Amino acid sequence: MAGLCEGRVVIVTGAGRGLGRAHALAYAAEGAKVVVNDLGVGLDGLPGPDSPAAQVAREIGELGGQALAHGGDIATSQGAASLVAAAVDTFGRVDTLVNNAGFLRDRMLVNLDEDDWDAVMRVHLKGHFLPLRSAAAWWRAEAKAGRPVAARVVNTSSGAGLLGSVGQGNYSAAKAGILGLTMVAAQEMGHYGVQVNAIAPAARTRMTERTFAETMAVPEEGAFDAMAPANVSPLVVWLGADASAGVTGRVFEAEGGRITVMEGWRPGPTADRGARWTPAEAGEATRKLLAAAQAPLPVYGAR
Ligand SMILES: NC(=O)c1ccc[n+]([C@@H]2O[C@H](COP(=O)([O-])OP(=O)(O)OC[C@H]3O[C@@H](n4cnc5c(N)ncnc54)[C@H](O)[C@@H]3O)[C@@H](O)[C@H]2O)c1
Repeated sequence: MAGLCEGRVVIVTGAGRGLGRAHALAYAAEGAKVVVNDLGVGLDGLPGPDSPAAQVAREIGELGGQALAHGGDIATSQGAASLVAAAVDTFGRVDTLVNNAGFLRDRMLVNLDEDDWDAVMRVHLKGHFLPLRSAAAWWRAEAKAGRPVAARVVNTSSGAGLLGSVGQGNYSAAKAGILGLTMVAAQEMGHYGVQVNAIAPAARTRMTERTFAETMAVPEEGAFDAMAPANVSPLVVWLGADASAGVTGRVFEAEGGRITVMEGWRPGPTADRGARWTPAEAGEATRKLLAAAQAPLPVYGAR
């Protein structure tokens, strides 16, 4: 039986370990040629001993698939451009981009260094924008040359971006920014054949195995391992395949055996005075609106 991604060329950033690795293997299992990007950094983004990208590319090869390792930094223009160029030079095209690379620098805001703010915004937010821009330029040129484009982008947000997470002000802001970027990219790129969606995953990786040790624990032998990263990949593969035609600008939570469509900000109770309020009147009206509104979902880690 032909795989869901037969003939497609798929780039996965940060695919040397964790969720990205699981996505890369799952795409290869569905017939895609995969470009496995990973800079090989530590948990905090500082340089690590080696890039695990080559190891994952080798694994895919041993399983009978085709893969190419790329060790560049996706948060630089040069790294992002060379990633798309590597796909085109080696496999002749690019069909799907999965933006996934990232790391954490958790601190309460009062103790958060400017450096830790910048590093996390850079890797997640700029690290989504730059590969997206490089791939978009290639797809737009294809469309202009009259070749049909059925391209897909899967961005990686987080529950922290959707609801906020205590101790992760930098990460929550970057991951919320990715949701805004996804909405805009879906609109701007739709007319030349590109669909853009985002996921908020949860899985056991080096990023979560210590902080959420209990939730992430490996179950007894034989039980469903809900927190295995590979559980998130089927949705990512489908969103990156031809089969997801018509689905764009949407956000999904994916964890274990569950897929949830996230319904975003929409107007709640509203009042219009038809003229300018005084501050006291605005306050009184706002109290009434809040009383009629749904309570927000709790921020992760809220006491
Ligand atoms: N694990 C979870 O439960 C969870 C939850 C929500 C969101 N996420 C998001 O999922 C994505 C993957 O996380 P993970 O849990 O698999 O973490 P991970 O640390 O296992 O994998 C991330 C990979 O990204 C690579 N990387 C970091 N900076 C890079 C750069 N500049 N260029 C190229 N590669 C780079 C790292 O070397 C690492 O291999 C991240 O964006 C993370 O924020 C994870």
